[in-house]
Parts: sequence; C-alpha cells; structure tokens
Amino acid sequence: AQDKRESLYVLSQWAGKFFRENLWETNLGQSIGLSYFKERGYREDIIKKFELGYSPDQWTALVDEAKKAGFHEGYLADIGLAIERDDKSLYDRFRGRVIFPIHNLTGRVIGFGGRTLKTEKSVPKYVNSPESEIYHKSDVLYGLNFAKKAIMDADLCYLVEGYADVIAMHQAGVENVVSSSGTSLTTGQIKLISRFTRNVVILYDGDAAGIKASLRGTDMLLEEGLNVKVLLFPDGNDPDSYAKQVGSTAFKEYIEKYQEDFIFYKTNILLKDAKDDPIKRAEVIREVVTSIALIPDEIKVSVFIRQCSSLLDIEERILLTELNKIRLNRAKAL
Ligand code: CTP
Ligand code: MN
Ligand code: MN
Ligand code: MN
Ligand code: MN
Repeated sequence: AQDKRESLYVLSQWAGKFFRENLWETNLGQSIGLSYFKERGYREDIIKKFELGYSPDQWTALVDEAKKAGFHEGYLADIGLAIERDDKSLYDRFRGRVIFPIHNLTGRVIGFGGRTLKTEKSVPKYVNSPESEIYHKSDVLYGLNFAKKAIMDADLCYLVEGYADVIAMHQAGVENVVSSSGTSLTTGQIKLISRFTRNVVILYDGDAAGIKASLRGTDMLLEEGLNVKVLLFPDGNDPDSYAKQVGSTAFKEYIEKYQEDFIFYKTNILLKDAKDDPIKRAEVIREVVTSIALIPDEIKVSVFIRQCSSLLDIEERILLTELNKIRLNRAKAL
C-alpha cells in the first residue's frame, strides 16, 4: 500500500509537469492559458511559483502521454486524472482548463483544480480532483505549503475562499494566506491552521455566500479556541478582484485597517437587518451570545460579554444568564 501511495505521488508530480509544459511550451498553452493568467494580472514569477499549468482541450492528451511514459492505467483513474467509461476506456478529467496544482504540507502535488476559460453559466467554473488515497479535501488548505513560514512569522493566518485569492495575495506581498477551496471550512482544516497560529482573519468574498460562510466559519474557529477577525470586501469583491482593482499598497492598507473582531463584525451585520425592531434586536443579542458561548476560554468569554454589553447596550448580567442557558441546552443536546 505504501508503494502504491508513492506511485500516486509520482504520477501526480508527473501530471503537474505535463500541465506546466503544456502552458509554457505549446502554442495553444501560451496563446490560451498563459494569456489568460496574464490578463488576470499574474506575473510570470508568480505563475511559476504556484506551478500553474494548462490542460489541452482534447479527450486523451494526458492519458496518452501517461501510457507512453509507462504509468499504470488504473492509477490514472485512482487519482482522478482520468475518468473511466463503461467500456473501461479512459479519458482526461481536465480538458481545456487552466490548472492549479494542490500541494500537501511538504509541497508534494496531491491534486488539481482546473478553471474553465469559458464564460457560459452551464460550464462548471472549477473541476477538481476527487478524493483519493493521497488527496483528502477536508484535510487540505490550498497554499499552506507556501504560507506556513509566513504564518508563523506573523502569528496570523488569512483565510480566503479561492485559489486565485491566495495567488493574488502572494503577488501583493501578503504570504500568510490559505484557502479553504470554497466556503465550507472543515474542522480538519482548522486543526491544520492551529498548528501554526491561533489567530485567523477571514477574508471571504463580499457576496451573500461569503457572508453566510464567514459567520459559519467564525463559529467553527471560535469553538476550536482560535481568535477570529473578519473583513469582507465591498461590492461583491474577493481578495483577488479587490487587489487588482486598487493595487497592492491600497490592498494591504485596506486589510490592515478594516479587519474587525468577530464580535463587531457579527453584531454589525445582524443589526443592519434588525434596524430598530426590538424583537429583531433581541434576536441579534441572542445570536451574538450564541457565538460567545462556543469559546472554550472563560477569560475571553468574560471580555466578550463585556464588549457585547456595551455594544448592544444591555446589562452583562442578562447576557450571562442567556449564555448559561445556551450552554445548558447544548450540554443537554449532547
Ligand atoms: N470552487 C469549486 N468549484 C466551483 C466553484 C468554486 O471548487 N464550481 C472552489 C474553488 O476552490 C474556488 C473557490 O471555491 O477557488 C471559491 O469560489 P469562487 O469565489 O466562485 O471562485 P474564485 O476563486 O473567485 O474564482 P475566479 O476568481 O477564478 O472566478
Ligand atoms: Mn477522505
Ligand atoms: Mn465565492
Ligand atoms: Mn471568489
Ligand atoms: Mn475570484
């Protein structure tokens, strides 16, 4: 089994090289893939650092090359580079897409994300490697191999949604950044972050999905004992689009200036909806206390209860009563 895993790693690394060579050394790779990255504003050194690539728009380009190179065909399907038809013949999963290799902590390639170049809504924007013996999506943070040292140095980790966000932030000079590859953060991913820092700033997309996911992510991070700040970008922007819009310097100033402690972030978001409606305001208070009740550190809990009290203009005693009620109900539910 160990031998097989090693072979799968070797095959993944080989595929990464195949995609890379297609990007840099073929006419179509250059005119389609490389121009795409350049139009997005990515510098060549960044395209190389992240080992970005291009998959030819053909049915069996990779399968054919892999066979020629002597790779075991079954392994191509096992790590999802190829898909098996009913008649057992294989075809390429990634076709006519730009490729983002996904690395593990030690920098070995374990999977790929492929972005379409088409704008039709009917085509999925990203196709990703499926779960395999070497790729467990819920235990991987995209970019962590490039970020771990910077995360330790800054004692802080920025958490973004997408591949492109990680890359754009590196290009802007912010290297302590990882992506949850979508909006559904997992406990495994949080455990990974906490090996390097206890401080997280969520920088999800400034759209409805990003807002919802930032609230869910906040609660999960708090529950694991991490300190959480949040910042969303204006007008539906994500870190990549915003960095491109305002430039590196303004981007860095913006994230330094506007990241806010989860309690202010959450309160403000909910209060916006509640306006002056007293019943809705009561619900906001309950919601915020629900988040505080997840925090395992009692000293932090008391600090946040005090903040919440002044922020929402309500007595601490009442908040503490509510907090205890929430905890009791949770204990009962277990
Ligand atoms: N994602 C995915 N499959 C999709 C859509 C999204 O796997 N069909 C994952 C990708 O990891 C993507 C992340 O979720 O990077 C965030 O999604 P989204 O914000 O929609 O994409 P962007 O990263 O902003 O992609 P781009 O800037 O290239 O449009
Ligand atoms: Mn798994
Ligand atoms: Mn998004
Ligand atoms: Mn996005
Ligand atoms: Mn984007």
